[in-house]
Amino acid sequence: MQSPFDLDNPTAYLRWRDHKLNNAITDTDELIVEIKNPLALTKAEHAALLERCRHSNMVIYAVHTDTVDEDMVRQFGAQFGLNSLDANWLADEDGITRVTVSAEDGNRQAYIPYTDRAIKWHTDGYYNTPDRQIRSFVLHCVRSAGQGGENRLMDHEIVYLMLRDSNADFIRALSAPDAMTIPERTDEDGVARAAQTGPVFSVDPATGDLHMRYTARTRSIEWKQDATTLAAVAALEKLLASDLPHIHRTLLKPGMGLLCNNVLHDRAAFSDDPDSPRLLYRARYHERIAGTHCSW
Ligand SMILES: [Fe+2]
Repeated sequence: MQSPFDLDNPTAYLRWRDHKLNNAITDTDELIVEIKNPLALTKAEHAALLERCRHSNMVIYAVHTDTVDEDMVRQFGAQFGLNSLDANWLADEDGITRVTVSAEDGNRQAYIPYTDRAIKWHTDGYYNTPDRQIRSFVLHCVRSAGQGGENRLMDHEIVYLMLRDSNADFIRALSAPDAMTIPERTDEDGVARAAQTGPVFSVDPATGDLHMRYTARTRSIEWKQDATTLAAVAALEKLLASDLPHIHRTLLKPGMGLLCNNVLHDRAAFSDDPDSPRLLYRARYHERIAGTHCSW
């Protein structure tokens, strides 16, 4: 099978590139699909959600009910073939994480997601082992912050495309198996997570889909110290700091959520209304959204 992500196959790449740019969503309003019941999507709702994911690897859904719970999030994901929840150590027993400011839990407090601070651009689970890569997630907003907490979103395939257009060597460098290393994390019991070294861009051998691991953090990450890798990282940072129409800015309101193939995202700092603190449910999966395999 020919792959558009093969650097030695410019014909396949250019064909995929045309298809991608012609269909990519650049108007954030077009990313939003209203649904009635997340437990049982109608055929039309499912098709509308999937179409956006096929074109831009993401969709924002809006449900007009404030009674969505963790189980509903799971059943919503299952309608897109998402079943293998990543049971990370901060997830609840059911594998779904409540993302909220944690005042009392010392473990959680040490991690930025559970604070009101900004989170830089990243893909989820960039520190996971190769067999537990996060290929998709659902982020459902139960309560938004009193102020702030907006997200920026960018399709990782568009990031790949733009970097490859500017210099194919950037893709080569970022696809190296030793491109980035996340150092081990230690806690009072010793090493809680071993160091993870791996590529930024990789192609799933089973499906041919593009996967991306990235964090814009400057601490707790070591980039391969070679000129092309560092130039590629700088080009990527510049791209994400630009005002390209492919960078979506959105604020999830109660009942709204993001379903995506682990696209790049960030979060602005926020301040909570103490009577109604920000709460999101996050479900991370090892598989991609069914029916979104790279088409061209
Ligand atoms: Fe994230």
